[in-house]
Amino acid sequence: QTGCFTYDPGFTSTANCKSAITYIDGDKGELLYRGYPIDQLAENTNFLAVCYLLLYGELPTNAEFINFRRTITNHTMVHEQMTRFFTGYRRDAHPMAVMVGTVGALSSFYHDSTDISDPEQREVASHRMIAKMPTIAAMTYKYAMGQPFIYPRNDLDYTSNFLQMCFAVPCEPYVVNPIISRALDRIFILHADHEQNASTSTVRLAGSSGANPFACIASGIACLWGPAHGGANEAALNMLREIGSVDRIPEFVKKAKDKNSGFRLMGFGHRVYKNYDPRAKVMQKTCHEVLDALGHGDDPLLKIALELERIALQDEYFIEKKLYPNIDFYSGITLRAMGFPVELFTVLFAVARTVGWIAQWKEMIEDPEQRIGRPRQLYIGPPRRDFPAPA
Ligand code: SDX
Repeated sequence: QTGCFTYDPGFTSTANCKSAITYIDGDKGELLYRGYPIDQLAENTNFLAVCYLLLYGELPTNAEFINFRRTITNHTMVHEQMTRFFTGYRRDAHPMAVMVGTVGALSSFYHDSTDISDPEQREVASHRMIAKMPTIAAMTYKYAMGQPFIYPRNDLDYTSNFLQMCFAVPCEPYVVNPIISRALDRIFILHADHEQNASTSTVRLAGSSGANPFACIASGIACLWGPAHGGANEAALNMLREIGSVDRIPEFVKKAKDKNSGFRLMGFGHRVYKNYDPRAKVMQKTCHEVLDALGHGDDPLLKIALELERIALQDEYFIEKKLYPNIDFYSGITLRAMGFPVELFTVLFAVARTVGWIAQWKEMIEDPEQRIGRPRQLYIGPPRRDFPAPA
């Protein structure tokens, strides 16, 4: 017995790896990080403490947290030469394209944390990834805006630092809104890890070949970009904008139920959850808090989202298919209210998920039984045949 279920070492079950990090019960709508329920973590602690929990298996003591926070803070700057990477991108490049390229290039700067056989180098690589992702994400945003890069500050917490790198400008002081910073910290906790989702499985498969951690994280970013996965928060907000008013909701619900339409409700449904995504409940609560704090409690897109959820949850199609809102349904409205452009939503998802990717990568590398991943196929091509003799 390993905690919640019996691990089958023969891989005869559907499980294709073993992990002690995150557990999901899709039928109950339960999500645990190292055994702690996600809603309790979101309410009672902060993102860096959750990073420590995911990496090391236990919540940090006060002394451990202070030391971990100092370590991460001291890695937040990137090599100054990285700023020249950005001039190679078009200003209108999608930020995820920039993230894939720039994060992949980190391995060309930090040669002292690419030898995965060295535990110390694995540790430094983990800290560097967690520390530098917000800096690179903020640089990606500033470059798209045509504004100067803003350096990280060591006197600010993780999300306050990210907000000031995104929104500060040299010509005037920037004051972090503590409500927004706390809300973003909670959003990062919700997105930190999610068992063997597509992008985490990509990171594990890349890492199983011995590729360096920066290249593995870049592969996870590339996978997360897809609209069926991390790109759904961007797609969900665009969908709410397209619906435009509550009286057009029935038209879109009807289209989502028509298989031939090719349209799906973005932010609805999940491969594993066949109940309400527990993260979506916390996300909806955070959305209300942020909009109220910013004086946008009557945001028309929130009204459409709440009404769409109400209608869908009463519709027999969605009930039968067990389709509920997932984490992406309310995150877009919240991030937009915070001032982030829709193109940056999946970048924010990548910033938060980096700790999950790197924790799962470390767990796999440190497993003495691990071997290179090698998914098999069901061959449906032609049987063996000989090359035709010359006529
Ligand atoms: C994330 O894996 C993870 O953990 C991912 C993630 C994470 O934290 O890493 O949780 C993040 O990716 C959340 C999901 C974000 N994506 C979206 O919101 C995009 C919209 N959702 C769908 O495309 C869809 O629900 C998926 C991709 C998420 C799951 O698709 P599946 O595997 O086809 O879902 P399913 O097998 O449960 O579908 C059951 C049925 C299917 O119909 P039938 O083939 O049985 O006739 O429901 C239908 C689907 O066609 N369906 C939908 C639907 N989602 C599924 N119909 C309308 N609208 C939808 N959103």
